[in-house]
Amino acid sequence: MSRIYLSAPELAGNELDLLRDAVASNWIAPLGPHVDAFEAEMCARLDVPHAVALSSGTAGLHLALEVLGVGAGDEVWLSTLTFAATANAVRYVGAVPVFIDSERVSWNLDPALLAQGLDEAARAGRLPKAVIAVDLYGQCADLDPIAQACRHHEVALIEDAAEALGATYRGRPAGSFGDLSILSFNGNKIITTSGGGMLLGRRKDWIDRARYLATQAREPARHYEHTVVGYNYRLSNLLAAVGRAQLADLERRVEARRATNAFYRSALGDLPGWSFMPEAPYGRSTFWLTCATLDARAFGADRDAVLDHLATDEIEGRPVWKPMHLQPAFAGYRTIGGAVAEQLFRDGVCLPSGSSLTPVQRERVAAAVRATPRSRS
Ligand SMILES: Cc1ncc(COP(=O)(O)O)c(C=O)c1O
Repeated sequence: MSRIYLSAPELAGNELDLLRDAVASNWIAPLGPHVDAFEAEMCARLDVPHAVALSSGTAGLHLALEVLGVGAGDEVWLSTLTFAATANAVRYVGAVPVFIDSERVSWNLDPALLAQGLDEAARAGRLPKAVIAVDLYGQCADLDPIAQACRHHEVALIEDAAEALGATYRGRPAGSFGDLSILSFNGNKIITTSGGGMLLGRRKDWIDRARYLATQAREPARHYEHTVVGYNYRLSNLLAAVGRAQLADLERRVEARRATNAFYRSALGDLPGWSFMPEAPYGRSTFWLTCATLDARAFGADRDAVLDHLATDEIEGRPVWKPMHLQPAFAGYRTIGGAVAEQLFRDGVCLPSGSSLTPVQRERVAAAVRATPRSRS
């Protein structure tokens, strides 16, 4: 029986043609025509004027914080329900993370908790230097009130759209909302360069600064001159060629993941205690991963029993992200709320959702979920 992965990479078809072109041109470097074109094509698609292609989304987060001047002792507020990369980047610059709970309607950063927290922080005279809002599992956070609260207090907003390329919020693309926004092209993402990322923004000086820092902070001199510490974070021209082929196929991928989500909802929606991650009314999710929570008492089995049963059928499922405030690496940092994210972690599963998943494969997943041994079935 072939293994079904959570989110396997899928080739669009013309990657080799573009790769051949990159090889023939001898641009085997972390810069070149495909890097420039990939940046320009992403800018056009997201309607953001400036972008720098990077070796990972994590590098994008790190550079966003650097460019904003976030440093030792500054606070950065962020969603607690996220992948560790979001919080790791905060620590790279020596800043202090403050974790904010999710709202139920989108599972993303709760805008009311953020606004209230920022008001209180302003009164206490200790506002954060930046907020990072994560667009989780293919769905945008409620970005209008989040951006409004940040603007009101003159706090920079970074949009971590690593999981949400192709989604929209009130008709506008994910990745176009932050003062700076990041994307990831890691192997499990909706488009992939095997590893890669991008930092985007409206201020040319910020993206120029990020590009400079990502290129070892090399000064424009004949010799190697460095006035600050830099990083080796740029994307290879070979990988940018792959990214361009993938990006041209984005909309079909969104449709494929949405179709998988619709299938799971109809095939499993009648199971007692089972509820799918809601699609908030303000936007269109890609359903990068289809996720659901299950009430163990009503369903008769908990999320680990489901994941164990999937594993016996060679199907890869995952728990929903473990909130950052529960991670030993971030123990002791302040958290605003946290109970919603804790429940989503305790009860949440992610089902195979890759854009190459076949109808036969998703039937197999649904059958395996239904066949989970339950105490009351
Ligand atoms: C929410 C989120 N932020 C950041 C990242 C980091 O991206 P990368 O793996 O490209 O460094 C990921 C995933 O990989 C992610 O899911």
